[in-house]
Amino acid sequence: MELTPNSFAMSVDAGGILEPWTSKIERRLSDMAGMYADPDAERDAIAAGDAVVYEVYQHDMPNHAGELVVCTTLLYPGKVGDEFFMTKGHYHEIRERAEVYYGLSGEGQLVLAKDDGAAEAIPMRPGTVAYVAPCWAHRTVNTGSEPFVFLAVYHGDAGHDYGTIETEGFPLLVLERDGEVAVVSRQEAQ
Ligand code: 6PG
Ligand code: NI
Repeated sequence: MELTPNSFAMSVDAGGILEPWTSKIERRLSDMAGMYADPDAERDAIAAGDAVVYEVYQHDMPNHAGELVVCTTLLYPGKVGDEFFMTKGHYHEIRERAEVYYGLSGEGQLVLAKDDGAAEAIPMRPGTVAYVAPCWAHRTVNTGSEPFVFLAVYHGDAGHDYGTIETEGFPLLVLERDGEVAVVSRQEAQ
């Protein structure tokens, strides 16, 4: 496998777009159907325009542990029922691959879960550097009224396992309750 031969610079523009990027992902509500806690609110939101929830701008790298993939995520503000807009969330396909998140603008929560049932949430704001330890699934949630933008760096061979979260969900939900941000267990929310 060929490694990236030369060092180079990237930059993040005022809108949170990584330059130069080589691949872009855009996810709408319908791309993550079944992930929000309130199925009726989710169905109505999809019917009401199927908003873009987030975009990822990534500089792809060879699929090798020695490489580092860099990307930015622009997670838009919004709610489905009382649940804030969020990413799908995933484990890395190679579970033992850590990741670093760096908050650039807006605010949110980084929700983390492990397959032994452990879960926690780290508040993210501009300047927050969050370390996602190996073996933790991770999802971000926009709890503010502006786009929540962050940079992520992870190993080139990490890969993404979305299926486990699609089946099992996260133990923690991030909701608006009485005008405040509330991180609650899924059982408590039901
Ligand atoms: C990654 C990062 C991050 C993440 C995006 C979108 O491993 O690539 O954790 O870039 O992919 O924030 O979230 P989802 O991949 O869960 O849709
Ligand atoms: Ni990741």
